[in-house]
Amino acid sequence: MTGVDVAPSLAELAAGTATYERVVVADAAALPFADVTFDLAVAFMSLQDMDDAAGALRETARVLVPGGRVVAAIVHPVASAHLGREAAQQRTYFEVQRTIDDIERDGLSFTFHQIHRPLHAWFALFFEAGFVIEDVREPRPSDADVAADPRLAKARSTPAFLHLRGSVHAR
Ligand SMILES: C[S@@+](CC[C@H](N)C(=O)[O-])C[C@H]1O[C@@H](n2cnc3c(N)ncnc32)[C@H](O)[C@@H]1O
Repeated sequence: MTGVDVAPSLAELAAGTATYERVVVADAAALPFADVTFDLAVAFMSLQDMDDAAGALRETARVLVPGGRVVAAIVHPVASAHLGREAAQQRTYFEVQRTIDDIERDGLSFTFHQIHRPLHAWFALFFEAGFVIEDVREPRPSDADVAADPRLAKARSTPAFLHLRGSVHAR
């Protein structure tokens, strides 16, 4: 398995796990791999953080074998519609927009940029890259999950995550 991250620090952390054979520092919208190289691509909670998610999906389709699959976990559009330091009521679910949040966790402060897209815009990115969407899931934490991590309580009633699986058309 090959890992990719544009941030050298995150790539270094990934390389320190037993998960990957190699980890490459690269922009997902300009993958340093030959066409038709991989049979599966996984984008875990990253597409919504990318400036060029459309380019990343085009590149993913390029490096997959015909019939190869992409699996993505993203922030659910219902949840991302309410992100952002500006008042949520000044925005609309229906527009693609950058959200900026100031977050403090474990004593660290950071500014979090994401791109919110309504559901149809996410699907359009996959279709335009040449993917057929085969499965869509909205994972819901169980009561036991919420007991273990109370931050998941809201996700019992409002979707927080969206999982998509697609396969690339034969070229
Ligand atoms: C929320 S983190 C998830 C990281 C990892 N997938 C995980 O689950 O621990 C989002 C990651 O996307 C990476 N990222 C953002 N834009 C990127 C791009 N254009 N190409 C590759 N990685 C990118 C960030 O550096 C960050 O590590």
